[in-house]
Amino acid sequence: MRVLVTVGSARGGTEGLGEMVAADLRAEGLDVDMKAPKQVRRLDGYDAVVVGGALYAARWHRAARGFVRRHAGELRARPVYFFSSGPLDDSASDKDIPPVNGVAKLMEQAGARGHVTFGGRLMPDARGVVAHAIAKKHSGDWRDPDQVRDWAHSVAGELRAS
Ligand SMILES: Cc1cc2nc3c(=O)[nH]c(=O)nc-3n(C[C@H](O)[C@H](O)[C@H](O)COP(=O)(O)O)c2cc1C
Repeated sequence: MRVLVTVGSARGGTEGLGEMVAADLRAEGLDVDMKAPKQVRRLDGYDAVVVGGALYAARWHRAARGFVRRHAGELRARPVYFFSSGPLDDSASDKDIPPVNGVAKLMEQAGARGHVTFGGRLMPDARGVVAHAIAKKHSGDWRDPDQVRDWAHSVAGELRAS
């Protein structure tokens, strides 16, 4: 089974989560491609798709939103899973955080089967005025490889069963 993982990320943290998801799905025996949203022309040849998006001001990164809108019809025809990232604290590891409203709407458009929120990352030297101000008080890496592995395991199980 061939799976596409594609991620909208501004500062690399969510891209790193996409790489973890891809590696964990490969370890589950799936054939996985990871591509930037704009590199994807058509979904022919993919049996399932995972879309990840960084959260900024309670919205998904633009590239992830655009990908879902462009490919909504093709996405509806195959199993689709979303992940968001992410809170700059332990909350995503401690509890299930539902999708923000915009992502919930995109899930409907794509017919997505599931969603998870993973913790985020903000480097101390983050660029951008607002990001830099937040990073001065609140930098760190809350991405949780165990949570990612567990989620990938459950997605792989659902795909095998479908
Ligand atoms: C300006 C700014 C706004 C953010 N807004 C949110 C938010 O609304 N919700 C959230 O969970 N995380 C928020 N974050 C945290 C980011 O989602 C987190 O740093 C994430 O890992 C960024 O992913 P990226 O490195 O792939 O761009 C925000 C971070 C910054 C710098």
